[in-house]
Amino acid sequence: MLKVCVIGMGPIGNRHADMYQCSPLAKLVGVCDIIKTRADAAAARLGVPAYYDAQEMLAALHPDLCSITTPAKKMAATTLYRPCRPRSRLPRVV
Ligand SMILES: NC(=O)c1ccc[n+]([C@@H]2O[C@H](COP(=O)([O-])OP(=O)(O)OC[C@H]3O[C@@H](n4cnc5c(N)ncnc54)[C@H](O)[C@@H]3O)[C@@H](O)[C@H]2O)c1
Repeated sequence: MLKVCVIGMGPIGNRHADMYQCSPLAKLVGVCDIIKTRADAAAARLGVPAYYDAQEMLAALHPDLCSITTPAKKMAATTLYRPCRPRSRLPRVV
């Protein structure tokens, strides 16, 4: 089972999170948004912890896979992950 998290809890992030919760292959372990009300609402709905800083969430949860559903996906993928884990152990990004 893959541990997954979602960064960016707009409509698309919530959709990704719903899909993970429906999958027998995934376990949603956390959600993150820089807008506290969005992170809190998604966390309460999904029954997982809310984070407001992506690096903090990644360092705490060490997901196998992470959806980045912010408006700047490519930039986020580059800047968020490199400091968090050795390159050989980067989580997959969708
Ligand atoms: N809405 C659609 O139907 C649709 C369809 C296809 C693709 N997309 C793409 O998917 C992406 C997300 O769409 P959306 O409608 O959910 O956008 P949205 O702007 O409503 O939500 C994005 C969320 O990401 C959060 N965010 C931004 N930077 C962050 C950061 N560094 N850390 C944590 N959270 C951060 C924002 O606060 C916001 O809540 C966009 O790139 C959009 O172009 C959207």
